[in-house]
Amino acid sequence: MSKEDVDQVAGLEKICFSDPWSKETFMEELQLKLAIPLVVKLEEKVVGYTCLWHLDDQLEVANFAVSPDHRKKGVGEKLMKRILMEAKERGCKSIVLSVRESNQGAVNLYTKFGFVEVGRRKKYYRLPTEDALTMVKTL
Ligand SMILES: CC(C)(COP(=O)(O)OP(=O)(O)OC[C@H]1O[C@@H](n2cnc3c(N)ncnc32)[C@H](O)[C@@H]1OP(=O)(O)O)[C@@H](O)C(=O)NCCC(=O)NCCS
Repeated sequence: MSKEDVDQVAGLEKICFSDPWSKETFMEELQLKLAIPLVVKLEEKVVGYTCLWHLDDQLEVANFAVSPDHRKKGVGEKLMKRILMEAKERGCKSIVLSVRESNQGAVNLYTKFGFVEVGRRKKYYRLPTEDALTMVKTL
């Protein structure tokens, strides 16, 4: 993800989430030493993105989305393969993420890649309030 991508990413974020990250938050991600912000592009257009945080021997997936126009075509899998590569290259022992318990599509994707549910954070999300499932993949 570059500065030039942030307008597109923030636009997609508003479409994809009820409680979206702001453009400023994405700009901050570009400066953060521990952050690894990535995009997938199709003919110069951003069709997917993820923001990762490298914390000691763990990679956290802080944000992950695919444009509604490009879903169910393997873009999410492409991003996930890149996440696994980043984690391995950095010597991480695990990857962790949170997901709304009702988000079956995302849970399916994560399960397909070997993530398992390890916990639940009560009322973690707002708009609407909902529990988060914590999922981990051990490398
Ligand atoms: C979840 C999301 C990232 C999936 O992206 P995608 O590019 O459509 O996913 P893919 O095409 O690579 O699908 C990979 C797998 O994910 C699962 N999956 C994806 N969408 C699904 C859906 N609508 N219903 C059920 N399973 C789904 C399936 O297991 C699929 O594998 P399969 O095709 O063999 O069944 C996308 O729907 C999205 O951006 N949703 C809104 C934002 C979001 O929820 N982000 C995750 C926050 S934790």
